[in-house]
Amino acid sequence: MTDLPAKVRIVEVGPRDGLQNEKQPIDASTKIALIEQLADAGVSYIEAGSFVNPKWVPQMAGSDTIFEQMSRRQGVTYAALTPNLKGYERAVAVGAGEVAIFAAASEAFSQKNINCSIEESLDRFAPIMSAAREQNVTVRGYVSCVVGCPYEGDVSPEKAADVAKQLLDMGCYEVSMGDTIGVGTPGSVARMLEACLVDIPAEKLAVHLHDTYGQALANILAALQMGINVVDSSVAGLGGCPYAKGASGNVATEDVVYMLDGLGIEHGIDLDKLINAGDRICQQLQRDNGSKVARALLAKRG
Ligand code: HMG
Ligand code: MG
Repeated sequence: MTDLPAKVRIVEVGPRDGLQNEKQPIDASTKIALIEQLADAGVSYIEAGSFVNPKWVPQMAGSDTIFEQMSRRQGVTYAALTPNLKGYERAVAVGAGEVAIFAAASEAFSQKNINCSIEESLDRFAPIMSAAREQNVTVRGYVSCVVGCPYEGDVSPEKAADVAKQLLDMGCYEVSMGDTIGVGTPGSVARMLEACLVDIPAEKLAVHLHDTYGQALANILAALQMGINVVDSSVAGLGGCPYAKGASGNVATEDVVYMLDGLGIEHGIDLDKLINAGDRICQQLQRDNGSKVARALLAKRG
């Protein structure tokens, strides 16, 4: 197939985006074991936790312990989601070398998720950006609801592109475009990316696609064909978003890896070990495995 990248970087968000939505308590050792297994499977970027208000997302309250106690592998980036300077300072205090800030392309979602307007959220990120520059901490950006919002419906591609551009102008090295509720199709995702690509080079964009409507792999293929080569995903398809009712997890990392293998695209991950990591956390949480590839290959193992 023509026009596909030779290599894709996978950003594993399961320990954060995946687990943040689990209602049952999950102890730190379970989370740490997952993170370590993912690194052992060759995942080079893991979003390991978030430093948000623990009253808003209780499951992430123990992220400090995770960063303090997990063993770190050379060459692996362990990132932390931070909504404001307080979260940034908590993350850096426990050794996070990369943080992610998150804005939305829809006003209503911004209010529900982080209790402020889009503009106010960008103002709140400014002190994070200056502290990060001083401390050599790299900052990734997210834009949520890039094609659809649970409260406002369709979101214009230009609005998503505009917020992405502002995050890059503030100093994010990359922006991940989030279809938070997984309503996008290769049509709407391609239109959104086209609008981004007017002012933003493809190498500064990533896609973060929840799989609620089963479109995520098709959407990723469309993104790859447009030159995007960074894909966020969640092992075993864990997750959802606490402020987007009914949204299911990100596309499963196992499914992305299997598709990339089929396309002959390099990714550096050992699929068997990845499946073991996903299978184990699903057993521990007593939840179904959200990866079709994992289910098929586990059934074959017997
Ligand atoms: P707020 O209530 O407006 O904050 O929340 P505030 O500044 O008014 O402070 C209120 C209290 O919270 C104060 O404590 C602060 O100290 C405390 P009090 O004086 O009442 O005792 N506080 C904090 N404590 C710990 N860590 C912090 C922190 N900040 C304030 N960082 C805030 C504003 C942004 C903090 C809140 O709305 C929040 O935490 N939201 C996070 C929601 C969230 O985590 N959503 C899920 C992640 S986003 C996502 O999943 C989408 C993504 O995957 C992409 C996609 O799929 O599209 C990234
Ligand atoms: Mg997400």
